[in-house]
Amino acid sequence: MNPNLNIKQISAQETHAVRHPILRAGKPIESCILPGDDLKTTLHFGLFTNDNLIGVCSFFKNSNPNVPSTNQYQLRGMAILKTYQGQGFGKVILSHGEKFLGKKSIKIIWCNAREVAVPFYQNNNYMPIGNAFNIKDIGLHYVMYKIL
Ligand SMILES: CC(C)(COP(=O)(O)OP(=O)(O)OC[C@H]1O[C@@H](n2cnc3c(N)ncnc32)[C@H](O)[C@@H]1OP(=O)(O)O)[C@@H](O)C(=O)NCCC(=O)NCCS
Repeated sequence: MNPNLNIKQISAQETHAVRHPILRAGKPIESCILPGDDLKTTLHFGLFTNDNLIGVCSFFKNSNPNVPSTNQYQLRGMAILKTYQGQGFGKVILSHGEKFLGKKSIKIIWCNAREVAVPFYQNNNYMPIGNAFNIKDIGLHYVMYKIL
């Protein structure tokens, strides 16, 4: 990894600096709060370049009955600041989280992928399952999962 890049576990609150402009643009800051954000089982990662937070992702101990295996975590709040998108940073932070969870015997990661992000997840070996569904105010999503 680039020596100026660093991935750290961060608090739920710290994720808002990226969640807000990228995932909740124009909405109140409270819209960045996700249910379960502060649970002990939830993990938040931050990707820093020269000590500036440029990307975040979070993992929640949540099961989806349509996804195989019981030992699941849900990926949420996956976001890279606009000027840093498309340069491999999303892959870097996601792979870090996957390795971390893999070491904790988690078998599956799944997410509700926005339609625009489906190619990103496919590039990272996530598979779609089931039909597209709508999430109010955000748009079409697909459940995607990866076996670790
Ligand atoms: C989706 C996202 C997290 C991917 O991170 P990233 O650092 O841009 O992705 P990477 O550079 O690691 O991978 C880029 C690949 O993802 C795909 N991709 C999907 N959405 C993209 C986007 N908005 N910008 C650039 N690439 C995107 C491309 O197919 C690209 O593949 P390629 O390298 O073969 O061309 C990031 O673009 C983002 O924050 N987008 C807006 C928020 C969002 O949609 N989050 C996901 C919610 S489910």
